[in-house]
Amino acid sequence: MVFKVTVATVALAAFAGAANIKRVTCPDGNVASDEACCAFFSLRDDLQENLFGGECGEEAHEALRLTFHDAIGFSRSGALKGGGADGSIIIFKDIELPFPANAGIDDPVGDVSPFLTRHLVTAGDLIQFSGALGITNCPGAPQLQFLAGRPNATFPADDNTVPLPQANATSILQRMADGGDFSAAEVVHLLASHTVARSDTLVPGHEAVPFDTTPFTFDTQFFLETLLRGTGVPFGVNNTDGAESDSPLPQSGEMRLNSDFLLARDQRTACEWQLQINNQQLMMANFKRAMDKMAIIGHNARDLVDCTEVLPQPVPPVRKPATFPAGTNRQEVQQACPSPFPALPTDPGQATQIPACPDGDLDLDDC
Ligand code: HEM
Ligand SMILES: *[C@@H]1O[C@H](CO)[C@@H](O)[C@H](O)[C@H]1NC(C)=O
Ligand SMILES: *[C@@H]1O[C@H](CO)[C@@H](O)[C@H](O)[C@H]1NC(C)=O
Ligand SMILES: *[C@@H]1O[C@H](CO)[C@@H](O)[C@H](O)[C@H]1NC(C)=O
Repeated sequence: MVFKVTVATVALAAFAGAANIKRVTCPDGNVASDEACCAFFSLRDDLQENLFGGECGEEAHEALRLTFHDAIGFSRSGALKGGGADGSIIIFKDIELPFPANAGIDDPVGDVSPFLTRHLVTAGDLIQFSGALGITNCPGAPQLQFLAGRPNATFPADDNTVPLPQANATSILQRMADGGDFSAAEVVHLLASHTVARSDTLVPGHEAVPFDTTPFTFDTQFFLETLLRGTGVPFGVNNTDGAESDSPLPQSGEMRLNSDFLLARDQRTACEWQLQINNQQLMMANFKRAMDKMAIIGHNARDLVDCTEVLPQPVPPVRKPATFPAGTNRQEVQQACPSPFPALPTDPGQATQIPACPDGDLDLDDC
């Protein structure tokens, strides 16, 4: 007995040595692989408790959007100025928040900035960590990589680094290639983010106007619903300057960004778009890869420390496969890819009621 235990211990030690597993005990008692990760344990708990409430709600959605608006502030060609995922959108908020594409970004900047006074992390790390953490509350989101060590921005990003919803597919794809070296397919992968998304700024008089029927679930409905024929705009408000295209479910209060409409149908992106539908695991893996790339724009991964261990395991996907929302069907699909379209059932009943709150409540005032 004693002999066996000893052998096991030696074997374990040898294995740990071979894999070069380093362990440090942080001042707060947490055990980490590197002391650079120590600050993120208490930040994680503070954000979950005091910002996200453990939910895939508005704050988690906005924190995810913020990761993009900070990171894409970069230009490989040098046509625009920006340091990438460097926190410039917080540090130079007086300059960056007024950019038209940053409408509504004052919310997550205001939400996460106070955490800088309580935790010793940089603004760029805070932004990417918040986004990766918030989506762990969204059923079906992947666990992203989190690398720590982005230095604080020393200059702001230029205007026009973030694409507008009015932009055409060519200009969006060009900007994403210049900003983050993203392929057309990777742009599609990143747009899985719009499965947990609602607009606060585009429909006058309305906030939290959803992009799909399941804004609190990281599922593939967004890729299906964006391909359905549009019939009108929600709330009948048609003055959004080309940011909006007709939605397939205006009576349910769903809206559609014109940019999403175009990318769902463009030859360069349509097949990748269609491929995500009802392919939860594929969508998750694609989104993870593209987000991990986006999170370090402007940095060299070798200069950063892997602190993914601090992130919780995300809530697993819901079991429900993709479905046509009630009242829609295969005939409504504006298919732009020649591959066979997946066969999907239609939800029973009357027009889908889209929840306003993560707990399913239909009244925004209740959450
Ligand atoms: C590629 C072109 C993109 C365009 C034109 C675009 C545009 C928009 C617009 C106009 C909104 C609504 C903002 C509001 O009115 O409140 C929005 C929301 C959002 N976007 Fe994008 N986006 C793009 C890419 C991305 C990417 C790459 C991400 C990845 C992180 C992302 C994440 C989000 C999220 C999570 C929301 C929802 C925020 C909320 O619910 O409060 N977007 N996007
Ligand atoms: C980075 O900037 C933030 C916001 O101004 C500040 O709180 C933080 O201390 C800075 N960190 C470093 C390492 O300079
Ligand atoms: C796309 O938008 C850009 C920038 O606004 C414009 O220069 C270009 O002509 C547009 N392309 C198409 C095909 O409409
Ligand atoms: C809004 O109005 C324009 C111009 O009158 C019209 O072409 C368009 O179909 C309407 N709907 C949307 C969603 O823009």
